[in-house]
Amino acid sequence: MNKVLLIGASGRIGRLLCEKYYDSFDSLVAMVRNTDQSGLPPQINQIEADLESDISSVMEGVDTVIFSAGSGAGTGLDKTLLVDLWGACKAIDAAKHNDVGHFIMVSSRGADDPDRGPRPIKPYLVAKYFADEYLKNSGLCYTILRPGRLTDLQGTGSIDISRPVNPDAQVISREDTARVIAHCVNNPKVRNKIYELYEGESRIEQAIA
Ligand SMILES: NC(=O)c1ccc[n+]([C@@H]2O[C@H](COP(=O)([O-])OP(=O)(O)OC[C@H]3O[C@@H](n4cnc5c(N)ncnc54)[C@H](OP(=O)(O)O)[C@@H]3O)[C@@H](O)[C@H]2O)c1
Repeated sequence: MNKVLLIGASGRIGRLLCEKYYDSFDSLVAMVRNTDQSGLPPQINQIEADLESDISSVMEGVDTVIFSAGSGAGTGLDKTLLVDLWGACKAIDAAKHNDVGHFIMVSSRGADDPDRGPRPIKPYLVAKYFADEYLKNSGLCYTILRPGRLTDLQGTGSIDISRPVNPDAQVISREDTARVIAHCVNNPKVRNKIYELYEGESRIEQAIA
């Protein structure tokens, strides 16, 4: 039994995982800030926690963590620091403390080299860069996913893991991103790997080892 903790379950990718890919998981626990307001389907087992507080208790007995939380574009740089960086690091520490077997991080295109990214989102990319580094150096088995700009278009089930030259083509739907995440759970071949994700022509099962 692989018990999966989904951090950011009430977000747009998190919700797709709970609603469309629920069957991919043996056992799923959705971490949300407010269970009454999450709007998740009733069959979803929810746990309340805030990345800005102590989250150590939510990792008990967890085998796999999916980190798909984010402070969002509408908040300030304080939240970029406290959620995207510090919250991620706290989740990694708690996962390590609880011997979690696999940590799947939803990072971002450009987190490998924030200096090359667009200036307005550079602080966010720096936060993602250091969260990814922290995970890589944690000793945990990890998979880091770096999707391009996310859209709410319908997924196709096909992706490209090479970055297109044209920046306008560096996009992927949240649905295909959720599919990739679901594909990574219970897949030993994706361990300690980093993938960029864009819309493309290869079936997810072929593109992702
Ligand atoms: N937007 C893009 O183009 C883009 C591109 C590449 C990667 N990403 C990354 O993709 C991931 C998911 O994207 P998305 O569109 O699904 O995001 P989203 O819809 O904005 O959802 C973000 C989630 O994070 C949660 N969250 C925020 N602050 C929190 C805190 N202090 N404690 C616990 N949970 C907290 C939110 O919870 P509440 O519901 O309680 O607010 C929500 O569930 C994020 O890591 C984002 O950085 C985004």
